[in-house]
Amino acid sequence: MFQWKKKLYKGVCLSFFLVITLTILQRSTSPGFFTQDDSKSLGSSELLSAHKRDTDSTNDFWAVKTERHSREDASGSGHPTEWDVTSINCTANWNLTKLSWFTTLEPNFQQFLLYRHCRYFPMIINNPKKCKGNITLLIVVKSIITQHDRREVIRRTWGKEIEVDGKNIQTLFLLGTAMKAEERANYQKLLEYENKIYGDILQWDFLDSFFNLTLKEVHFLKWMNIYCHGVHYIFKGDDDVFVSPHNIVEYLDTNPYPDLFVGDVLFKAKPIRKKENKYYIPTSLYNKSHYPPYAGGGGFIMTGSLAHRLYRASETLELYPIDDVFLGMCLEVINVKPIMHEGFKTFGIVKNKNSKLNKEPCFFKSMIVVHKLLPDDLMNMWRLVNSNLTCSRKVSIL
Ligand SMILES: *[C@@H]1O[C@H](CO)[C@@H](O)[C@H](O)[C@H]1NC(C)=O
Ligand SMILES: *[C@@H]1O[C@H](CO)[C@@H](O)[C@H](O)[C@H]1NC(C)=O
Ligand SMILES: *[C@@H]1O[C@H](CO)[C@@H](O)[C@H](O)[C@H]1NC(C)=O
Ligand SMILES: *[C@@H]1O[C@H](CO)[C@@H](O)[C@H](O)[C@H]1NC(C)=O
Ligand SMILES: *[C@@H]1O[C@H](CO)[C@@H](O)[C@H](O)[C@H]1NC(C)=O
Ligand SMILES: *[C@@H]1O[C@H](CO)[C@@H](O)[C@H](O)[C@H]1NC(C)=O
Repeated sequence: MFQWKKKLYKGVCLSFFLVITLTILQRSTSPGFFTQDDSKSLGSSELLSAHKRDTDSTNDFWAVKTERHSREDASGSGHPTEWDVTSINCTANWNLTKLSWFTTLEPNFQQFLLYRHCRYFPMIINNPKKCKGNITLLIVVKSIITQHDRREVIRRTWGKEIEVDGKNIQTLFLLGTAMKAEERANYQKLLEYENKIYGDILQWDFLDSFFNLTLKEVHFLKWMNIYCHGVHYIFKGDDDVFVSPHNIVEYLDTNPYPDLFVGDVLFKAKPIRKKENKYYIPTSLYNKSHYPPYAGGGGFIMTGSLAHRLYRASETLELYPIDDVFLGMCLEVINVKPIMHEGFKTFGIVKNKNSKLNKEPCFFKSMIVVHKLLPDDLMNMWRLVNSNLTCSRKVSIL
């Protein structure tokens, strides 16, 4: 009965959201509608009101009510109780431009290095209560502002906030600001409406660029250190993957490791030196022959307590442009070895793109995370996997 009401309410909210979306998109084509919205850097008063709205709003409508959990991981005194970065105070480190190795670097690396010391940015959208209580699994998804359709499908499939056998699953999306000015104007308001409906967005005031993905990582770790003290496990991943929360919970039920960090681990990956490659790294940035072991950022699982330790480790390192490698470096600092698991397919399933495995629901049913499925395919695969599927041969991965 309650479930039915919730569904109805969600439906109504969704229709409302769509109407608003259309209105805004329509209106935004007329110039001047958004010009008052200089969203590149929100003034402090706007930030304040944003913060106020977040704490005032009845976000906990959707949240599962649970009791406040004791702060087992709070790190001593002086521990902030809310996000304590409220202004952008960051100027480029022009000293670098005097160095010869710097001047020969590609512009994107120069940009990265000039602002590498700018560590934390203010929050634009926060949901401080989202992580209160006893949460078995916190699903954390890296997303960008324009990909609303991916978030929507995730909320309807693997990111559904459910409670199974008293196990509480919560979902959060991590965002920066839009890359293009025209996107900032149109999409920021939409994102705020989306957050009003679902209350599952964390947004910081940095550009959502490829090299800023590591910022997203450290911002989440810092956020988690402030607001999450009852989280047992975290699944962190991309917004274009297939995930089986059922298999995750089943796998975690028998986890013996207090410092679990598990995923699709590369043990001796070499930095890529080909300039055309997306992951190219010049030797002036990293000169060792191998990276420390790291798990593909498409999807991995760690314990809540390990995330707190990773936060402290991250603060001892300079930012590195590839986010999953950066986490590998943090793991190395605290001497934790990531675990490789066959159920995580974040670097592709098989080499052959036309392989039947790519469409085989019984294969997906046996996995924990598989990259790369876009909204329509994800929805279809989710339906197939959760239908009355009979798999002849039980693929035992777990
Ligand atoms: C920014 O930082 C500089 C020194 O790092 C300080 O002098 C200045 O007051 C800061 N400005 C703001 C707005 O915090
Ligand atoms: C740049 O160099 C000056 C003088 O050497 C130094 O005081 C300053 O801290 C440097 N800036 C950064 C961001 O390292
Ligand atoms: C939190 O939930 C788990 C089940 O996921 C349960 O085993 C544990 O006892 C709960 N802890 C508290 C403090 O409620
Ligand atoms: C990361 O975001 C900051 C703040 O928006 C921006 O100044 C910087 O240029 C971005 N860095 C990269 C490499 O895109
Ligand atoms: C690698 O870089 C480090 C510091 O960034 C430097 O101390 C070391 O000498 C470099 N090694 C080689 C082989 O260039
Ligand atoms: C699945 O199969 C069971 C019995 O085999 C049946 O009762 C049920 O209605 C089926 N569900 C769907 C969604 O087809």
